[in-house]
Amino acid sequence: MSAEIIDGKAFAARIRGEVGSHVARLKQEHGIVPGLAVVLVGEDPASQVYVRNKGKQTVEAGMHSEEHRMDASVSEAEVIAMVERLNADPKIHGILVQLPLPSHMNSEIVINTISPAKDVDGFHISNVGLLGTGQKSMVPCTPLGCLMMLRDRFGSLSGQNAVVVGRSNIVGKPMFNLLLRDSATVTVAHSRTRDIEAVCRGADILVAAVGRPEMIRGDWVKPGATVIDVGINRVPAPEKGEGKHRIVGDCHFESCAEVAGAITPVPGGVGPMTIACLLANTLTACCRANR
Ligand code: GUN
Repeated sequence: MSAEIIDGKAFAARIRGEVGSHVARLKQEHGIVPGLAVVLVGEDPASQVYVRNKGKQTVEAGMHSEEHRMDASVSEAEVIAMVERLNADPKIHGILVQLPLPSHMNSEIVINTISPAKDVDGFHISNVGLLGTGQKSMVPCTPLGCLMMLRDRFGSLSGQNAVVVGRSNIVGKPMFNLLLRDSATVTVAHSRTRDIEAVCRGADILVAAVGRPEMIRGDWVKPGATVIDVGINRVPAPEKGEGKHRIVGDCHFESCAEVAGAITPVPGGVGPMTIACLLANTLTACCRANR
């Protein structure tokens, strides 16, 4: 293995520390406490783990944390009423509705009910539009975490060839916009891209966000490239015992690490950065609300 392993856990801890210091100062000097509310509908086990972690880290950063759990059988109107209540609550500066929502709800309608100023996920159509036109907005947490790691490594991203694999609204598209805003030359590759291996091999920066376990192999990677693996995939691990699983990324770590200059591991790479950026976004929303 030749690649440097980018330690997302340590990077995220540093950001959380900085957010925590800022929060302590806000409290001491202005009596203001940033507040984050998470709405979780249903019992999806992965979502429950995320929400628990978010709540814990919000409190550790000195912020006010609320968790609103709703039964999977509630109506869309009840979730919207909850969001509207949180929009009007002055203790709450950030609102996150955990996705996916149950299939009888329209996620877009629910998300677009969140006040754009409190939309710490950056999923509201106004924030999507602001980001797409290079204006100040709330930026989705996972791509923001990736951008921070890339800026840390490269300094300037200007002129770098970046390939984003995946075109989701949560990662691929905002990642494209963020890289473009930093003057990278950006290609978005996806399931219909012809000769995707060759496209990836042209990348100085390769961001994998497709949700396919270990799809990207070492021979897709340009020697020395920086590989950011956003994937979090649970795959069977019979070697650990019957019914056991392990978590792998969208990149085949061993072969990619042979070729890349730097790579994020899974777990311990992008994942911890997402929650750190959520806390940073909540702090930003609070500061903007109190300007
Ligand atoms: N589900 C998986 N990732 C996310 C995220 O970043 N935000 C929300 N709201 N739901 C998610």
